[in-house]
Amino acid sequence: MGTMEGLEVTECERCPSLVDCRQQIVNGTGSEDADLLFVGEGPGANEDEQGEPFVGRSGSVLDDKLRDEGLSRADVRITNCVRCRPPENRDPTKTELSNCREYLNREIELVNPDVIVTLGKVPSEHLLDRNVAVTSEAGTTVNTELGGKIRDVLICVHPAATLYDRSQESTFESAIGKAANMAESSGGQSSLGEF
Ligand code: URA
Repeated sequence: MGTMEGLEVTECERCPSLVDCRQQIVNGTGSEDADLLFVGEGPGANEDEQGEPFVGRSGSVLDDKLRDEGLSRADVRITNCVRCRPPENRDPTKTELSNCREYLNREIELVNPDVIVTLGKVPSEHLLDRNVAVTSEAGTTVNTELGGKIRDVLICVHPAATLYDRSQESTFESAIGKAANMAESSGGQSSLGEF
């Protein structure tokens, strides 16, 4: 019912209501051996149209903050909990999240990041398997087993939160700064600053 070739899901019909509305499956993007993996909730309208995660306004916020840290999208990996757009931008259901989990697990295993940054409540709760108060927990790191290894998961607010509430901007900025430092001190993230 689903085909994954390397990091790409090429075919999947596990979630009939998403299959009916999607334009395409939106796979992760960026480096296949990134030290930093960003996980969002699911594709929105822009992502569904362009076939790449975080290409709308949230994506610009993320790109800007990465650039401030000397990183580009190509240096990191960016993916979502679900790869098909939930209609009307609703949250993915528990079933949809679990249908897509195998693909996310495989991406984590293959990319093998040192740090996973969860962008917002849905990915934070999905990967940590508990309730998360994202605003108050943003910037905190949790060690948990994902993709066959204990990894650092850094909780972060969703980039869109900074658009609705300016006070979230510094929370977002410092979490991204922390993620970049953690990846750098773990030894590998290539940085534009080196060139
Ligand atoms: N929001 C998400 O969570 N993911 C995207 O890819 C775009 C917006």
